[in-house]
Amino acid sequence: IKSHILHVLDKFGSIPDTKNLPPVPGHEEAPMDQLVILGALNSLADKEMVQYTTLEKELWVLSKEGQDIANTGSHEAKVFYAVPAGTEGLEMAELTAKLGPAAKIGQGKAFKNKWIKKDGSKLLRLVESIEDQAQDDLQEIVRTGNHSKADVLKDLKRRKLCDRQRLTSYSVSKGPNFSLTERHQETDITAEMLQNKSWKESSFKKYNFAASAPPPPSGHLHPLMKVREEFRQIFLEMGFSEMPANRFVENSFWNFDALFVPQAHSARDLQDTFYISDPAVSGPIPEAVLGRVAKVHSEGGYGSVGYGTEWKRSEADKLVLRTHTTAVSAHMLYLLAQQPEFQPAKYFSIDRVFRNESVDATHLAEFHQVEGVIADRNATLGNLIGFMDAFFAKMGVHNIRFKPTYNPYTEPSMEIFSYHAGLKEWVEIGNSGMFRPELTRPLGLPEDVRVLGWGLSLERPTMIKYGIDNIRELLGHKVDLGMIQRNPLCRLDKKMGKERYMEDE
Ligand code: PHE
Repeated sequence: IKSHILHVLDKFGSIPDTKNLPPVPGHEEAPMDQLVILGALNSLADKEMVQYTTLEKELWVLSKEGQDIANTGSHEAKVFYAVPAGTEGLEMAELTAKLGPAAKIGQGKAFKNKWIKKDGSKLLRLVESIEDQAQDDLQEIVRTGNHSKADVLKDLKRRKLCDRQRLTSYSVSKGPNFSLTERHQETDITAEMLQNKSWKESSFKKYNFAASAPPPPSGHLHPLMKVREEFRQIFLEMGFSEMPANRFVENSFWNFDALFVPQAHSARDLQDTFYISDPAVSGPIPEAVLGRVAKVHSEGGYGSVGYGTEWKRSEADKLVLRTHTTAVSAHMLYLLAQQPEFQPAKYFSIDRVFRNESVDATHLAEFHQVEGVIADRNATLGNLIGFMDAFFAKMGVHNIRFKPTYNPYTEPSMEIFSYHAGLKEWVEIGNSGMFRPELTRPLGLPEDVRVLGWGLSLERPTMIKYGIDNIRELLGHKVDLGMIQRNPLCRLDKKMGKERYMEDE
């Protein structure tokens, strides 16, 4: 097609309208698609071999029915011609047999035009000859793409015999680099071209600054990070501030002692702790709080009898991979208590914790905890329950239930359950409680300040949300990177609550 355009230009000097471009020799049957022509023109215009302007036209074109009428006549004319001249006429039943549905449509018009009349069951001609105006009108449209009378066009359009169509074509002339053959264009200047000076004669392809580049490879957020962002939004909406949770290695003091977890080995192993061997011992711990914590463990205080066993500094100094983010909460509550005047506080964190558990389809040795604490004067268990309702409702989890449980640091403590519609059973989705005075008072909080806390795993809602059954597909060295690239944005919406997580009613 490019060479055809060049040859036509060479012969006629210009192509005023590509709609009338003669067919490619040997392909006379193939219709010329203006889009194909445009492609060729763009390529030639890039090399400045041609120049073109776009022509926009509105044309009237016939519908299939309009085309039929233009070719063979209107229905009324067909009716007229079906009725023989003279007095014998035509039985109406015969007309229908001859013309089919056109008989009915055409008759009315033929009567109206006074071309025929009814005589008993027969039709008779009233005139000798007729002029088929509809056919003439449509033929005019075929010839000119238009009609001299606007009301005729309007009427024909209403009868769905023709319609307006937009036509784009091009007017082409020779460009400064016009020639009959396309020259090869260089895209790069090479050392060789510089040496043999052929660059002087070469034609270079122009830069196309409008071309869109392939999307650059980029990072993708892991599903856990997407769900984390959703939780983060819930917390921020509810007025929480985020705790700095970047200390994966913590000393036992903040992970256990400050949380009133007894030093007896069994208790600390309840959480399957990973101890660090090198370095084995932590940096400094604030002495005042250390003393108060030691006392509440060994002797009691604040209304508690304590554990009545010896408290060893060496246990508190041991470094661990934190087993829960409640270690962070403890540290933050200590910092909160350092303020001259107590201010109510709402904190959250969503970060990694580590437990020396046997790994299976639903457990890994590390996972993420979503943790929240609220410290306020005279906060109650009712506040905790009410808050849990609101918090989980924002995740799309409604009708939660609570079951008493035991944590060394909270009393009362409650496991949180939601009904899993798929499993048809109540599943545990979190743990919560009111922090004990043995925890809040040694940290320095006033007597009437109560702290509500809760925690849940980030993995469980993520696996439910993304339909992953095996945690090893989500985390660890067997993760399919393609899954991470493809997985969609996370929305913790009502749908998840209703359809996937729990039954609403
Ligand atoms: N730390 C608890 C856990 O690991 C969660 C929790 C946080 C419970 C705060 C009560 C209060 O399951």
